[in-house]
Amino acid sequence: MRVVVLASGRGSNLGALIAAQREPDARFEIVLVAGDKPEAQALRIAEGAGIATIALDPRGYADRTSFDADLFARVAANAPDLVVLAGFMRILDPGVLAPWVGRMINIHPSLLPKYRGLKTHARAIEAGDAVHGASVHFVTPELDGGPVIAQVGMTIEAGDTPATLAARLLPLEHRLLVATVDLVAERRVLLDGDGVRLDGAPLSGPLRLTGRTLAA
Ligand code: GRF
Repeated sequence: MRVVVLASGRGSNLGALIAAQREPDARFEIVLVAGDKPEAQALRIAEGAGIATIALDPRGYADRTSFDADLFARVAANAPDLVVLAGFMRILDPGVLAPWVGRMINIHPSLLPKYRGLKTHARAIEAGDAVHGASVHFVTPELDGGPVIAQVGMTIEAGDTPATLAARLLPLEHRLLVATVDLVAERRVLLDGDGVRLDGAPLSGPLRLTGRTLAA
């Protein structure tokens, strides 16, 4: 399966995907990494791995729609089966996004539907939650609101700060994203209407990650 990754920042989730595609039994190949921040570490990681990159600066465009249209024209030129948003910090134009629904996933650091948007770790602590986690979902025009495929949970300990939570969650995010991309690449998971199917059967809730394996 051909994968395009969009990333704006540090690129640790991208790094996990690159490590996975180097495994002998890899089910996907990252054909392009594109971003909206030319200085992003994610682009340097891709270059270091010999993956083609594109960096577009939104300031060079009249509006969001023209930026997104240009970005996705370039994405489409690489004929991906799947687009992975891995720390891509932009809201996408609904019209540009529409043809990609079902072929685009995002990783989000919360147990959706809790805490869409930013500052998820702080919000989980402030709410007094006992558990926190991350989700991978199909992207729809609703910000962080598309059907959830898979989640990983972790306990919030007394004394946790947003920084300690983020640090503990990140390696779990990496495993969650790789395991989910593997399932999509095997064509075992797909979006059907508003729902996610695994091996043809509707999911009654998100898949859960245990170790490196996802299960209902
Ligand atoms: C991750 O926490 C991801 O869940 C969120 O943005 C962060 C990206 O981190 N969407 P990185 O750039 O992959 O290191």
